[in-house]
Amino acid sequence: MNKIKVSLGERSYEIIITDDNYAHLGKEIKNLNLGKDALIITNRRIKKFLGKTISSVVKRENISLHMETVPDSERSKSLEVWANLLERVVKFDRGRELFLIALGGGVVGDLTGFLASVYKRGIPYIQIPTTLLAQVDSAIGGKTAIDLPCGKNLLGTFYQPRLVYSEISALKSLPFSELRNGLAEVIKYGAIKNRELFGYLEKKEFKDYDWEYLVFECSKIKAEVVEKDEYDKKKIRMILNFGHTIGHGIETASEYSRKYSHGEAISLGMLCAVDIGNALGITPSGVWERLEAILTKLSLPRRIKSLRSEEIISAIGYDKKFRGEKTRMVLLKEIGEGIIVENIPWELINRVIRKRMG
Ligand SMILES: NC(=O)c1ccc[n+]([C@@H]2O[C@H](COP(=O)([O-])OP(=O)(O)OC[C@H]3O[C@@H](n4cnc5c(N)ncnc54)[C@H](O)[C@@H]3O)[C@@H](O)[C@H]2O)c1
Ligand SMILES: [Zn+2]
Repeated sequence: MNKIKVSLGERSYEIIITDDNYAHLGKEIKNLNLGKDALIITNRRIKKFLGKTISSVVKRENISLHMETVPDSERSKSLEVWANLLERVVKFDRGRELFLIALGGGVVGDLTGFLASVYKRGIPYIQIPTTLLAQVDSAIGGKTAIDLPCGKNLLGTFYQPRLVYSEISALKSLPFSELRNGLAEVIKYGAIKNRELFGYLEKKEFKDYDWEYLVFECSKIKAEVVEKDEYDKKKIRMILNFGHTIGHGIETASEYSRKYSHGEAISLGMLCAVDIGNALGITPSGVWERLEAILTKLSLPRRIKSLRSEEIISAIGYDKKFRGEKTRMVLLKEIGEGIIVENIPWELINRVIRKRMG
């Protein structure tokens, strides 16, 4: 079992990474003393894979358990689903000592975290992330949100969980496409903060990846960044946006065609960011080829297809990461060292995106 502490004063908590089918989960929850009644929020698919195991380890600790499901879709992060879930939580809560458990990927995690943060001005919650993306990224750091019709993650809070419990064996049932989504974030962590991790992804074959090592290294990076800039106010947490500025533009532009998933879009975004770094003399030569080789190995895209560059550019323009007119992006000084750079010419961004098209 590996433990990482996220040190945030009275909001501190542990990330536990295990590969033993949730053997320690019950005890770890019990030790936190969060209440007598646990309410798990999940979806039917995850319930099918993990519902029984989780129920039995929690119940063994004499904690009462109830499970609610939401649809398996990003649409669960809507006001409608959220309000419906809230009603069910209120009904269950009568006379209880309630805490919430998010069992699932980023969708369930964001939705549950948001609910926990505002219900009764905040009740405790635990994250049990079951996708690679949630284990290395969304479950850690306390950003919670639901979507509004005019944009993703527009209604949210900062609200830290009391525990993140990442069980590696849960990833076995995850489709390859979802693993790749998470791996794009893993590549990002290596590129901005950990040269060895990047080298590991380069050298090892996919089938030999040690998932516990990957989740551990990425969780450590995320925890360290969050500790320094919990509320994303100091231009530190922003480093995690490597590949995400142009990536979000591509994701938004492909929203209706669903051409690119998040991981695919940020893979393209990372390549563009390296191109920009090269053009500005910040990123040395050779980085682009190394990044491209990993993306090729993992069947992540290297070219932007079936989208119009104008759509991508206009989506980036609306991205909240570009405050005002100032363009701000994360670029690489070298592999393992990301830096935040401001005032990148629009013309260069445009040119780099067009070069990646077709
Ligand atoms: N809060 C944050 O800091 C943060 C960071 C990044 C992303 N996010 C959010 O995370 C969401 C994306 O999360 P995601 O990529 O985990 O997607 P997801 O939650 O939709 O999960 C992906 C798919 O995998 C399935 N699944 C989950 N666990 C499984 C398992 N063990 N076996 C088989 N199938 C399983 C889910 O049912 C779903 O179909 C987005 O809404 C995004 O905005 C939040
Ligand atoms: Zn991301």
